Amino acid sequence: METLVEGKNLKAYYVLEFWGKKRTIRAVDNVSLKIFSGEIYGIAGESGCGKSTLLKTLLANLEPPLRLFGGELNYWLDSKPVNVVSLKEEERRRLKWRFISYIPQGSMHVLNPVKRIRDTFMEILKSHVRRQKETFLEMAIEHLKALGLPSRVLDMFPHQLSGGMRQRVTIALATLLKPRIILADEPTTALDVVAQRAVIQLIKKIQKELKNTIVLVTHDMGIHAQVTTRMAIMYAGKIVEEGPTLEIFKEPLHPYTRYLIQSLPRVGDKQLREGIPGSPPSLVSPPSGCRFHPRCPHATQRCEEEEPVFLEVNPGHRAACFLLGG
Ligand SMILES: Nc1ncnc2c1ncn2[C@@H]1O[C@H](COP(=O)(O)OP(=O)(O)O)[C@@H](O)[C@H]1O
Ligand code: SF4
Ligand SMILES: [Mg+2]
Repeated sequence: METLVEGKNLKAYYVLEFWGKKRTIRAVDNVSLKIFSGEIYGIAGESGCGKSTLLKTLLANLEPPLRLFGGELNYWLDSKPVNVVSLKEEERRRLKWRFISYIPQGSMHVLNPVKRIRDTFMEILKSHVRRQKETFLEMAIEHLKALGLPSRVLDMFPHQLSGGMRQRVTIALATLLKPRIILADEPTTALDVVAQRAVIQLIKKIQKELKNTIVLVTHDMGIHAQVTTRMAIMYAGKIVEEGPTLEIFKEPLHPYTRYLIQSLPRVGDKQLREGIPGSPPSLVSPPSGCRFHPRCPHATQRCEEEEPVFLEVNPGHRAACFLLGG
């Protein structure tokens, strides 16, 4: 499997200053991961656990108050690792759209409301493609067709599209220059079930036909089950479990993952689903030891004092919990 993006011990914190007092929010705290070519890699976890910050970090989009405190980020270009953080701004910008592209959370509003979709597409092509301008419209139409979207959207303004179509057009825009990897942050959130299904189908199509790699962030475990091939579960700024999606749903290793799966509604099941006890911790002063210990039914003294190592339990399936040994 070819590696595309590799994060090693990434630490990305927000540093806020109020009246001379510093507050550090440890949103991504010692995260290591590898994204392989051709996969749909999911990132799950409750709101506020650091999913969006992890995507920003993978994009090297580290603008204040977010700062990288440690770790290494490599993009593998022509099978060689390139340390992205040490690149010049100009070089990094060149990688955006072509190697990696990003669909931010709430991207329904990314499209400029006073411009026709066509103009937004043309702007991107003009600033990144050195080809005759006459071919640009054709390129845009071809791309939309390949994704099964009607080319008439090009003549429309964003407000003339439904929320679901607007999201799909945003995804089409992000894939226009055929990036190797796309980071999508909660692309189905705030959509109704029908529109969600259309976005999921589009993501699958992009992966299958354009052979893109996708990193999909959503708090919705149901979507992970439907779309992703491999996934990570984040809790309080850390990845606590990672593995093939099928295996995670069949045999979740971490108590937190089990809660996330148990809280999923099931067809035909009228029973009230069990929620996760307690609430997510502060990332300013996270719990000692295993960060899940205040909410874990299996917690022992050791869990409060020591941090469990991220252990490979089955090939490619890892988790950090003392119940698994380590
Ligand atoms: N721009 C920001 N400034 C300060 N803190 C932030 C900012 N964005 C996110 N945070 C904090 O970082 C933590 C992780 O947030 P985020 O990455 O958005 O989580 P998620 O995407 O999983 O909901 C939260 O505690 C959140 O309040
Ligand atoms: S290490 Fe301890 S507190 Fe953490 S998940 Fe495992 S049993 Fe629960
Ligand atoms: Mg988020």
